Amino acid sequence: MTKRWTENDVEEAAAALRAGELVAFPTETVYGLGGDGRSDRSVAAIYAAKGRPSFNPLILHVPDVEAALRISDLPPAALKLAEAFWPGPLTLVGPLRADAGVSKLAAAGLTTIALRVPAHGLARRLLTAFGGPLAGPSANPSGKISPTTADHVLAGLDGRIAGVLDGGACPVGLESTIIGFDGEALVLLRAGGLAAEEIEVVLGRPLRAHVGGVTAPGQLTSHYAPTATMRLNAETVEAGEALLGFGTVKGAAMNLSPTGDLEESAANLFAYLHQMDATAARIAVSPIPEMGLGLAINDRLRRAAAPRKSDI
Ligand code: TXA
Ligand code: MG
Repeated sequence: MTKRWTENDVEEAAAALRAGELVAFPTETVYGLGGDGRSDRSVAAIYAAKGRPSFNPLILHVPDVEAALRISDLPPAALKLAEAFWPGPLTLVGPLRADAGVSKLAAAGLTTIALRVPAHGLARRLLTAFGGPLAGPSANPSGKISPTTADHVLAGLDGRIAGVLDGGACPVGLESTIIGFDGEALVLLRAGGLAAEEIEVVLGRPLRAHVGGVTAPGQLTSHYAPTATMRLNAETVEAGEALLGFGTVKGAAMNLSPTGDLEESAANLFAYLHQMDATAARIAVSPIPEMGLGLAINDRLRRAAAPRKSDI
């Protein structure tokens, strides 16, 4: 049985991590499936619990930029972004130091490592109590919708992990934005909870779009898949469909944001998809503007609507 822990149980959750067990924890983006990032055994247990292909590397969560620098010599542009946006929904991929003491399995054999300093109070307390880097992919079975509540975590992973630290609903609701470095260029590897435009303002130059193969991220086409079929950019609702609305549309079963606010929509997206997936066989989704957090929202919706692995 997986335990449900509260904010009073951070020490117990940290002890479970030190014993090599897995603990799901809230972050400002989505819930993470935490395990000791220094232990191959714990990291292997994460892959097993998620049913994730083991070539897909994990993000390491650390308490601050100093801890990040013990794992990766982040380039100057990365440090500028870290200063502006950490703690927060930004992941930086830098070269893995030889003396980082990190599980090779966490990096999935790559010479780079993804690092993130989360802003959520409970995640920060857990990191301090645990005292090491926490490997933490989203706490959902591979290919399913990311969890934004402890109930979502338990629906997917009950019995497969020691416990979940319940911090309520995640405020951002979309996974972190991932930035990689290619020489002088900064590459947007995954659109996410921090708008690319905000990053470009701090950098003073545009990010390069990620092209080509699966470096890994949620680049597998049918990621975030609900069981229901999905139809995007729906201007009208067809018979048998339930509408996931945006803005002032009429007749929506649920509305991501009646006022058309993209941040509110991001925060609601996965919870509403979970909820509608439980009751509707066909989900139509109103058009969402392709700007700010709308980029990441549309990215997740396109993946949710893509042909299922079992279909192709
Ligand atoms: O908001 C988030 O990022 C959440 C919370 C829990 O922190 N975590 C999350 O982790 O979304 P995950 O494992 O579901 O997604 C991390 C993505 C993966 O798609 C992985 O392929 C990519 O980051 N990634 C990890 N290390 C990488 C690396 N060295 N190079 C390129 N991509 C990497
Ligand atoms: Mg994920």
